[in-house]
Amino acid sequence: MKNQKRRSWAEPFKIKMVEPLKMTTKHQRETALKEAGFNTFLLRSEDVYIDLLTDSGTNAMSENQWAGLMLGDEAYAGSRNYFHLEDAVRKYYGYKYLVPTHQGRGAEHLISKIMIKPGDFIPGNMYFTTTRLHQELAGGTFVDVIIDAAHNPSNTNPFKGNIDLQKLEDLIKKVGAKKIPYVSIAGTVNMAGGQPFSMKNLKQLRELTNKHGIKIVFDATRAIENAYFIKTRETGYQDKNIAEILFEMCSHTDGATMSAKKDLLVNIGGFLALNDWDAFEEARNLVVVYEGLHTYGGLAGRDMEAMARGIEEAVMFDHIRARIGQVEYVGNKLLEEDVPIVEPIGGHAIFLDTKRFFPHMPQIEFPAQTLAAEIYLDSGVRTMERGIVSAGRNKETGDHYYPKLELVRLTFPRRVYTQAHCDVATESIIDVYERRNTIKGLKMIYEPKYLRFFQARFEKL
Ligand SMILES: Cc1ncc(COP(=O)(O)O)c(C=O)c1O
Repeated sequence: MKNQKRRSWAEPFKIKMVEPLKMTTKHQRETALKEAGFNTFLLRSEDVYIDLLTDSGTNAMSENQWAGLMLGDEAYAGSRNYFHLEDAVRKYYGYKYLVPTHQGRGAEHLISKIMIKPGDFIPGNMYFTTTRLHQELAGGTFVDVIIDAAHNPSNTNPFKGNIDLQKLEDLIKKVGAKKIPYVSIAGTVNMAGGQPFSMKNLKQLRELTNKHGIKIVFDATRAIENAYFIKTRETGYQDKNIAEILFEMCSHTDGATMSAKKDLLVNIGGFLALNDWDAFEEARNLVVVYEGLHTYGGLAGRDMEAMARGIEEAVMFDHIRARIGQVEYVGNKLLEEDVPIVEPIGGHAIFLDTKRFFPHMPQIEFPAQTLAAEIYLDSGVRTMERGIVSAGRNKETGDHYYPKLELVRLTFPRRVYTQAHCDVATESIIDVYERRNTIKGLKMIYEPKYLRFFQARFEKL
């Protein structure tokens, strides 16, 4: 390798308990991949060596969180862990009212049902799979209003998660503000490569939406990672701490959905947080139908305790620097070898730009799905497709969406893997890159109706 630079800092924790990993042979991986229909979601985790499928629910909890599990109050109603979580959400996110849910999509379901009427439009800074599906199931139409730069993997704008306010104004003019219940804004936009929005953009969005009486719902799943980028990239925020930036971000929005399985360092959990009493009342009532009583929302008391403790740890600067630093380390190593990735390097993952990786492969041969399968075959490293398969089909025309971004995501669980694991994963990708011209695409042989990327099956062409 050209330039073997090492990081000059280490993680702010040490390892207390270990989980053995299984090493597999190429033959075993070939069999496993065929059985999984070339879909990394369908592999058994015991056949995976280094699991970079997702950062969702795959984090290592701290000793303090594990200790909190023992203090789970498993009362059906009014668990003390609910009140602890409510206090932590109020303190760090600043919203008045809390409804716990089993995970992020539970909160998305509730907010979509409460706020969207059939025929409404929901603008957002690029779609997220479950978020958009719940908006559509409620009768709404998602409209992408992210800046154009977000669709260009080589554009190095530091805030590619920003909303294009002109696109939003155009939509308001076209359909009328009454048909836009809220703007959906996500921190470190997952589908754009983990790219943040700036505080300046959020403030401008607040001004524009206030003018038209439109609400803002924040997908706060990775809000803390977004806050880190604001601190390190946006003028005027260097001297603020992560908690202050997080609080300020939330103060410009009306409510938030949360998949706590990411930022909040837990294995399960989520919530809906709101400032408006009427919306909260409805959410608190609906949650009983779909998740569980409003003081547990599908979670055990111990899960809520782990989440409350996770919030405190997640906003620590040393933690977030190490978390994002690990992703940067891998990204920089790949860039040194000219492997095409989305730039700037994102918060939770490295995204391989498959259109440049496999220029010979048309999008209908599922290049990102192919690459994720090849990486697994090479080394047992599991990654995930974020391209045409994830994008699904247009609900009007039935045709595939052909997203500009055809990506493979290497997602880093928090506090789980060492620098040596990162090196192994990087070397495998470089090996696959070196023989990229010999690799053939896939055809889809089974397509489920909803969120097809989870269960679709493929065959080699
Ligand atoms: C940005 C974003 N929003 C929402 C969700 C949905 O959350 P969950 O998987 O907890 O239902 C996810 C999870 O993958 C996500 O990354």
